[in-house]
Amino acid sequence: MIESGTDSMRINLERKVDESYDIVFGRDLFPRIAKDLKESPLASRYVIIADSNVFKTHSQSLLRALRSEELKVDDIFFNAGENSKTMQTCSKIMDDMARLGCGRDTAILALGGGVTGDMAGFIAAIFNRGIPYVQIPTTVLAQADSSVGGKTAVDTQYGKNLVGAFKQPERVYIDVDTLKTLPDREYRSGLAETIKHGVIQDADFFEYLYEFVDEIINKKSPESSLKIAVNNCRIKGRVVEMDPHEKGRRRILNYGHTIGHAIEKLSLRAFETGESPDYLRHGEVVAIGMTVAAKIAELLNLLSVNAVMDQEKLLRDFGLPVKIPGEFSNEEIIASTKADKKAAKGKARYVLPAAIGAMHDFGGTYATEVDNEVVDQALKETR
Ligand code: NAD
Ligand code: GLY
Repeated sequence: MIESGTDSMRINLERKVDESYDIVFGRDLFPRIAKDLKESPLASRYVIIADSNVFKTHSQSLLRALRSEELKVDDIFFNAGENSKTMQTCSKIMDDMARLGCGRDTAILALGGGVTGDMAGFIAAIFNRGIPYVQIPTTVLAQADSSVGGKTAVDTQYGKNLVGAFKQPERVYIDVDTLKTLPDREYRSGLAETIKHGVIQDADFFEYLYEFVDEIINKKSPESSLKIAVNNCRIKGRVVEMDPHEKGRRRILNYGHTIGHAIEKLSLRAFETGESPDYLRHGEVVAIGMTVAAKIAELLNLLSVNAVMDQEKLLRDFGLPVKIPGEFSNEEIIASTKADKKAAKGKARYVLPAAIGAMHDFGGTYATEVDNEVVDQALKETR
């Protein structure tokens, strides 16, 4: 007979994990992906997850490449767009996977932009309690940012990326040839996170972007796309290595996201209710959010006016928006920031630059509360 509360037992689970992975950069990589999976398999079968646009432009050729290596592979698609990034879409995809007979012996190939990568990665984290996945990003944004670092998530009605998991991919393949079919607006949108990487960590990269605007925006050469992808992954990769689970320094990657996510949420809601015929893209709201955050830093004497102007010029040169859309009031934007994941005790927090290439560390937290009056003023000056 055991007396209640006198006995306890420890389950020892201390462990060291190695979640390192390779990022392969290049052109026409689908045959290489198939060959790699044949030579070092991740599973006994594969499922390609793509959205409806990428399903039309790239899925079939990846499917053919894998089948030509006699790999077992199926494909599943969902409706393109940020408003598909939900638990409901994930549930439907997981039901499709179960119907196809996918189990623990399956690996996911996430083929597409950040919406696909975030959802496919999240499914990989929870399907059968976790299966491997590979990121094959096909937007500038996903090649610059979302395919690296292992953040996976879906949106809920209360906010962006509110449900998710850290789940690192097994490999990332960045094939810049996939960008050939990317619409111009999506191409430009992806460059916002690229400029963000220059501002937060690398003044030389910022300078390069400044100098080669024409080459990047008008020529869209595979060489410049490769250079951009390599630099983005280097910058983001170093931050993630230092702080994989966002306890501190990784927050700098959220520069521009407090206001950005708030506007993105309002924009998506207006689109869903039919008030607006379109919604702002993620990169576009990040561009606006960076403009407001830089303005906040200037108002707090934490950033020079020249740095604010340099950032704004580069965003404009890349065709990105730097003004708050007129339909959203300051009050509703500030209210919407409360759902941001960096918020603590109901108060939004901001990641602020100290100069082009350096961020304030705020005692190792890399984010700070800002009075509503200052945010309101910065929003007014961004209209
Ligand atoms: P997206 O995935 O919706 O892609 C944008 C559009 O481009 C879609 O219509 C898509 O169908 C289309 N598309 C994609 N590749 C194409 C191609 N090669 N040819 C033709 N059309 C193509 O959006 P996105 O901008 O790539 O990503 C935005 C998402 O990424 C947001 O949900 C954001 O929260 C997330 N994100 C995540 C991280 C992370 O670390 N996990 C980082 C940044 C952004
Ligand atoms: N894009 C933010 C992060 O990966 O942390």
